[in-house]
Parts: sequence; structure tokens; C-alpha cells
Amino acid sequence: MLNNPLTLVFATNNLHKLHEVQALLGGCFQLMSLSDIHCADEIPEDHHTLQDNALQKARYIYQKYGYSCFADDTGLEVEWLNGEPGVFSARYAGEAKDSKANIRKLLANLDGAENRKARFRTVIALIVDGAEYLFEGEVRGVILSEEYGTDGFGYDPIFRPDGFDESFAQMPLPLKNSISHRGVAVGKLVDFLKTLPAH
Ligand code: IMP
Repeated sequence: MLNNPLTLVFATNNLHKLHEVQALLGGCFQLMSLSDIHCADEIPEDHHTLQDNALQKARYIYQKYGYSCFADDTGLEVEWLNGEPGVFSARYAGEAKDSKANIRKLLANLDGAENRKARFRTVIALIVDGAEYLFEGEVRGVILSEEYGTDGFGYDPIFRPDGFDESFAQMPLPLKNSISHRGVAVGKLVDFLKTLPAH
């Protein structure tokens, strides 16, 4: 049986992400981070799809700690590069996970490209009492030819979502969150969690 409020582990140590999702969920759910459950493990994510990586992280927590939990994985998929960097977005330019180096590499690989269309895609894997669920969000846009804006993180300065004339790094955060891949996936997760019976 679940407890009330339902306690869920979000398999992340990114407190910004954790607070964002907690605010959307309200008081019916209590989120815990990896450090809240004293998990300092380097959780493996060595699959080749976002879905498999998200499931791998959520299953690791569920199997080791027994908590209902969810995990996310995100990638930037560029058409001209056949979906690269995709699942390797964080370490596109190497294990240092250096955002500026990743941007430089992507811009170099798109030099002269005729098509700059791309999308961010997030997959969230949720496990509640052993049952697995998947939620997906995407945002389509283009890769700009240079950096614009200083806010945000990752590839934000070179990604302009369709329908807007500024990059993610130039947008106020609430606007980015309302249209982003992660925002859409989290919205689906939250809608689903709210349908779960109280215990
Ligand atoms: P993660 O799965 O959320 O850790 O995302 C993997 C990588 O994708 C990050 O290290 C970033 O390089 C990139 N990324 C994910 N979300 C965003 C975003 O909202 N803006 C820009 N880059 C992102």
C-alpha cells in the first residue's frame, strides 16, 4: 500500500529540477532526492536510448531501495546529424561534460548545413509499486549559427524553439519551462500522478 502523501524518489541530485517538479505536484506527493535517501552511487546509464536510460536509473533505485521513483533522460536530436548528439548530449565533446565545448562541436559539425532543425526530447520513467510507466515531451526548433543569451544551461544559447524569435537562453525561465521538452514530460507525469488513488 502507498502512504499518504505518496513518497516518491526523483533519481536526481539536481535540486532545481526537484523543486520545479515538487511545486507542480503540490502537497499530495513528497519528493525525495538521491541524497535524501543517502544514495551516492554513480547510477549506470549506459544504454543507447533515452527510454532505456531513464528505465535503467528508475529500476536501479526501485530494486536497491524499494521506493516508488522516477528518473528522466534528455537529448538534443539534430536532423542534419541523424539524431546526434541524442543520448550522448551531455558528453558530446568528451567526458568533462563541458557545455561550451559541446556547443562548439555542434556548431562545427553544422558548418554549411542546409537543414538546422532539431528537437529536445525528454523521457521520464516512473515506477509505482513495481509497475512501470513512461512519459515523453519534446520541443522542436532550430540550431542557431552562434550563441544568443546567457541564461539557462547546456545547449540553450543555440536552440531557438519554433514560434519564438529568441533562444532558450534569452527567455524568462517560466516561459521556457512552459514549452520545454522537460516541462511537457513533467506535465504528463504530474497529470498521471494526480489520478493515483490516495492511500
Ligand atoms: P539530462 O538528461 O537532463 O542530464 O540532459 C542531458 C544533456 O542534455 C544535458 O547535459 C544538456 O547538455 C542537455 N540538455 C538537457 N536539457 C536541456 C535544456 O533544457 N537546455 C539545454 N540543454 C539541455
